[in-house]
Amino acid sequence: MKSKITKTALVTGCTSGIGLETCIGLAKQNFNLILISRSDEKLSSLSKEIIGKYGIKTKCFVCDLSSLKDINKMCIEICNYYNHIDVIINNAGAIYMDKQFSVDGLEMTFALNHMSYFALTTNLLENLHNIDDLRIINVSSQAHRNIKIDLDGLDRGDNYNGWFAYKKSKLANIYFTYYMAKKLLGKSITVNCLHPGVVNTNIANNNEKLYYKIITSIIKYFSISAKEGAQTSIYLATNDLVSNVTGLYFKNCRPIKTSKVSYDEKVALELWKKSKRILEKISA
Ligand SMILES: NC(=O)c1ccc[n+]([C@@H]2O[C@H](COP(=O)([O-])OP(=O)(O)OC[C@H]3O[C@@H](n4cnc5c(N)ncnc54)[C@H](OP(=O)(O)O)[C@@H]3O)[C@@H](O)[C@H]2O)c1
Repeated sequence: MKSKITKTALVTGCTSGIGLETCIGLAKQNFNLILISRSDEKLSSLSKEIIGKYGIKTKCFVCDLSSLKDINKMCIEICNYYNHIDVIINNAGAIYMDKQFSVDGLEMTFALNHMSYFALTTNLLENLHNIDDLRIINVSSQAHRNIKIDLDGLDRGDNYNGWFAYKKSKLANIYFTYYMAKKLLGKSITVNCLHPGVVNTNIANNNEKLYYKIITSIIKYFSISAKEGAQTSIYLATNDLVSNVTGLYFKNCRPIKTSKVSYDEKVALELWKKSKRILEKISA
């Protein structure tokens, strides 16, 4: 009998919502998991549950993904432990209605929702021993529509508006995906992004003001479950039909067009260069 090869997937933001259900879906398909979040306690309990139910292997990393130094440190540990990873899912994200700064002095939405995707992925691509047959999946959003990025004040959060900052970060996920997919063409690495749907999760729960809570509960009423919201991530991670598909944006497991501005290669290149400069400055 042919033995089933076990693959390994890394999922950021795995302790709640879409990330959590993505992990369960992948564990059901026999993937070993690299689990990342800020909470040791939540990671241990998730890991125990998944190992108990599905008999796969997990390795947990506690990391504040808004800190570039913490990401760097974690990536060293990951590369010491793993030679190869099959799937990287950049999923962790949040909405900050009030302006906050990361430990690196970056506006928080930009730091977590964009820079963590950039820092983690580029670090692993540089330092993993074997990067063949890798699928990179970036969880973006339909919120990327009807917005442009002004690269100049992006990392400082100039003229801050929480919802617009979130929209820009999700557009940044698309620029990052398209640019990286093009850069890696011809290699056995695919890079895609997706909209999970409007999903009932904890995403806006870190905003304390009453009117945000009211708006959030109204949106939640019309939203799909986290299990449903995880399906496109799971599809891109596992399905043979997309093993060679790269540089696309998916919704409901189908590729669709993104906003007109998201195809501007000049902006994608400038965002890439800016992200690289920030990373180099903070890692120096
Ligand atoms: N929900 C929606 O309707 C929707 C729609 C479109 C796109 N999305 C995207 O889907 C992704 C997942 O969101 P969700 O709705 O599932 O949110 P969620 O339920 O709030 O889950 C967010 C996850 O990210 C982790 N996280 C948050 N801040 C972190 C940090 N600083 N460092 C490390 N981990 C951190 C959290 O883990 P810990 O708290 O344990 O650290 C949690 O596991 C996001 O990228 C979001 O933009 C969501």
